[in-house]
Amino acid sequence: MFTLPVLDPTDTAAFYDALAGQLEALLGDERDRIANLANAAALIWHTVPGLNWAGFYLMKDGELVLGPFQGKPACVRIAVGKGVCGTAVATGAPVRVEDVDAFPGHIACDADSRSELVLPLRERGHIIGVLDLDSPEHGRFSGADQAGFERLVRILEATWD
Ligand code: SME
Repeated sequence: MFTLPVLDPTDTAAFYDALAGQLEALLGDERDRIANLANAAALIWHTVPGLNWAGFYLMKDGELVLGPFQGKPACVRIAVGKGVCGTAVATGAPVRVEDVDAFPGHIACDADSRSELVLPLRERGHIIGVLDLDSPEHGRFSGADQAGFERLVRILEATWD
């Protein structure tokens, strides 16, 4: 049984240090991608405050398709270049949106979302999907949050690279 940690979110760097350690412990030697993404989504959901959606979209036949997640049911397919997720794939870079209403083309899967952070996931240099985080708070994600989630993405990528 995995006991969910209670992490202090007030020190952002220490919070993501601890969360990275928890993710490594949770994944262990497991290589199954869907299992690892599912457990990562659950860990993030239960430890990171201020989220209303946390999960993954995976590239399939040239578009993003909904993968493991926590939160309300979401849009299943997103074209590359569309929305925040498709923009992260098209640009190959993280996209941090302080106010989703000010992001042209934002796809509103959950009307409660106010800010969003999307990070590309890679396998041997190629984008295979994204980690998508939504919050009901404006400007929920700082640069330090982005750096913290980038660490989590690197840990996940190491399970298949
Ligand atoms: N808002 C995203 C769509 C996915 S949901 O947030 C789960 C976007 O604009 O790509």
